[in-house]
Amino acid sequence: MISSSPAVEFKGISKAFGDCVANSDITFSVQPGTIHGIVGENGAGKSTAMKMLFGLYRPSGGEIFVHGKPADFDSSIDAMNAKIGMVHQHFMLAEPLTALDNILLQQKGSAFSLLPRKEQKDKLDEIAKRYGFEIDLMAKVEDLSVGAQQRVEILKILSQHSEILILDEPTAVLTPQEVRDLFQNLQRLKAEGKTILIITHKLKEVMALTDNVSVFRAGRVVANRKTSETSVADLAELMVGRRLQNPQERRTAIGTTTVLKVEELTAQIGAHRVENIGLEIKSGEIVGIAGVEGNGQDILIRALLDESAFHKKDFSGKITINGELGSFPEDRLRFGVLPSRPAYENYLLGQHRHPKFAKGLFLKMKEVLKATKDAMELYDVRPRKESLEFDRFSGGNQQKLVVARALLQNPQVVVAAQPTRGVDIGAIEFIHDQIRKSRDAGAGVLLISSELDELMALSDRILVLYKGHFVAEFPRTSFDEISIGAAMGGGH
Ligand SMILES: Nc1ncnc2c1ncn2[C@@H]1O[C@H](COP(=O)(O)OP(=O)(O)OP(=O)(O)O)[C@@H](O)[C@H]1O
Ligand SMILES: [Mg+2]
Repeated sequence: MISSSPAVEFKGISKAFGDCVANSDITFSVQPGTIHGIVGENGAGKSTAMKMLFGLYRPSGGEIFVHGKPADFDSSIDAMNAKIGMVHQHFMLAEPLTALDNILLQQKGSAFSLLPRKEQKDKLDEIAKRYGFEIDLMAKVEDLSVGAQQRVEILKILSQHSEILILDEPTAVLTPQEVRDLFQNLQRLKAEGKTILIITHKLKEVMALTDNVSVFRAGRVVANRKTSETSVADLAELMVGRRLQNPQERRTAIGTTTVLKVEELTAQIGAHRVENIGLEIKSGEIVGIAGVEGNGQDILIRALLDESAFHKKDFSGKITINGELGSFPEDRLRFGVLPSRPAYENYLLGQHRHPKFAKGLFLKMKEVLKATKDAMELYDVRPRKESLEFDRFSGGNQQKLVVARALLQNPQVVVAAQPTRGVDIGAIEFIHDQIRKSRDAGAGVLLISSELDELMALSDRILVLYKGHFVAEFPRTSFDEISIGAAMGGGH
């Protein structure tokens, strides 16, 4: 008999954290063998809902059903036993360990964990091959690219025989090529009958990949749609509650002073390298760096922000920065924040000696809290709690805080790496406006992004980084996705 119950069903689910209602009356269902998209603004409650399905939180009300049975999970182990697997918004891998050990870590005591190591490796290689998630299992996770780390996470849940896969913003950190590969692999998993729930802010991806989609807003589901019966504009409006506007073209001219100059820079960490590159940014100019991740972007950013990260012998060339530098690093959780400390401490980071905030050794707490509050207000960081620990904010709201910290100091030079990673489309529009404002105020901006759309929307010119060299330059008047894409792949 064919079972007619949905693979997953949320019925009136709610969840509160103290006085913060993260989910309220969430209702939707997912048919087996389909891909279900979950979209919504930052803080709308998407991750919270999925964490309940994965047994990490208990609902405060309502019920979740898995294949028709109540999912009464006390922990993620119960969820895994029910063949549910989840890849989190921030990967949870142990970096110094190999990929293989990371995969085995969670399976202590299982039949699989008792096999000889060689057999474990062969089995995993086989699963990886079958679904297209090949990786070097013996490599240490810290040496893997973000895309490869994600494949480790997915392989981990596939090796646990998960039938229901939850992916929380899996493409936020991937390159366009990696996204294409991932989607192909997800289609393969679907064809094998697996059920996939995917959270993403990229509405084009929702349209390309999913069968159905649920839209979250402020903790509620405001729409459940068949993907074929909706559109990007439709979804955007449902999410944000208003139509998005087209950005204005620039009104000020590019300045004449050079604010950032890189000359004959050759630098290397591990296998990542840039070779004899140069660039110059004028005040009031935005220069975009396009390229597939791993072609030297991380090295360029490190060289600009932290020369001490390099061995002397691995660094030559000259970098001149004219004025205050504001930056937001690519990976906010690895660099530049204290995840378990309150928002205001994170906001203060880097400006803790500023006379505005400090007198001698003492912090002017009132000023610090006020500045944080104002920044949260301006950037619409939700919830507006200056004392909430950084890692309790949703992913996109964390990003807004990091961007606010950099731009509100009115820097003359801005290094913006992946400025809108993980933020919702309303917030992307806002952050883009803030970057344009910095530019109009005379800042020179170096924009490093894996989103071609973002680069083309903001940059005055785009340089393409390929294998450590700048291989092409496009002025704004000749931006075109296909030519830039070709240069990114080395064909120019
Ligand atoms: N452990 C927690 N303690 C307190 N509040 C929390 C906790 N986890 C989530 N929240 C709050 O619940 C709300 C929903 O958060 P959630 O992470 O589910 O949002 P999201 O839709 O995944 O957002 P994003 O797109 O930014 O990742 C937010 O206001 C968040 O601050
Ligand atoms: Mg989230």
